[in-house]
Amino acid sequence: MAEIGRDIDRAAVLLASGKVVAIPTETVYGLAGNAYDVHGISRIFEVKDRPSFNPLIVHTNSLDKIRTFVKEIPQVAIDLADALWPGPLTLLLQRNEIIPDLVTAGSPLVAVRIPNHPMSLELLSAIEFPLAAPSANPFGYISPTNARHVQEQLGDKIPYILDGGPSAIGIESTIIGFNELGQAEVYRFGGTPMEDIESIVGPLNMKLVASRKPQAPGMLKSHYAPNTQLLLCDIATTIPRINANKTGVLSFSKMYDGVPAQNQRTLSITGDLHEAAHELFATMRELDNMGLQIILAEEVPDTGLGKAINDRLRRAAETRIL
Ligand code: TXA
Ligand code: MG
Repeated sequence: MAEIGRDIDRAAVLLASGKVVAIPTETVYGLAGNAYDVHGISRIFEVKDRPSFNPLIVHTNSLDKIRTFVKEIPQVAIDLADALWPGPLTLLLQRNEIIPDLVTAGSPLVAVRIPNHPMSLELLSAIEFPLAAPSANPFGYISPTNARHVQEQLGDKIPYILDGGPSAIGIESTIIGFNELGQAEVYRFGGTPMEDIESIVGPLNMKLVASRKPQAPGMLKSHYAPNTQLLLCDIATTIPRINANKTGVLSFSKMYDGVPAQNQRTLSITGDLHEAAHELFATMRELDNMGLQIILAEEVPDTGLGKAINDRLRRAAETRIL
């Protein structure tokens, strides 16, 4: 099992020697390795059992450091960075040759983010290299939002989990790229609401087409998925029609008749989307571990963080394709 602790120096030493370490961020926990070291990076793919066509996000703590591994930063990107970093936002930028092909799966673009977590920022400022880090879950499964989630699934494969408490946001970063005209485009909904981004760059283009060979695995139709079948539906009308004796409910804010209360979880009884995002993955895991036959889930209001929550619910509901 991995050691769980709060020792930033220890994490830094392990990372400098090519090991992978789980780190806390405000979105989800990441499985980090030295972004300049191909051996460290291959280990990330191995531990996650992640196909190598899926590029990784590179994390660091300053725009100056980012300038050392990208060619140029468009003005819109600088505007977004100034307003929203550190935070749950990832930007796709033209990389230079310091970033290994393995990190970007051969793409000329590198995904970059400054995470908003005090321990990770301290770690990132203590090391000379940026950290490539996907979410610290086995490929395709629900992302971890605390150290215990990481321990349960990857603990036998990594030496250390830096414990920064539960992730404040609870859902992965929003990914934004830039087209030839320098306009921002959305690649993945996430912890920064569209409204916040549009208030800086104006109306956004969407790049969010789910496919089997996606530009981002977050775009895979089946992803973030529990092992138990999850059905996204109108819960009230589905309960009487479902024949499963062990049915679970994952609702936004209310309890339903016809399913035992102990099999039901609400994301936020007050209907708060921040709370719902914060609870989403932990609640999905909890229901997934209850030995249920089916989980009935419903969409949340499609505004603010609701867009990212609904996106994750839809992908969790897809039949697995990998
Ligand atoms: O909040 C987050 O973004 C978390 C924390 C740990 O920072 N990380 C995360 O990583 O969600 P991961 O690997 O689970 O998802 C990263 C997404 C993937 O869908 C990947 O394809 C996309 O970023 N991505 C990375 N590099 C890319 C690139 N060059 N072009 C397009 N998409 C890219
Ligand atoms: Mg992931």
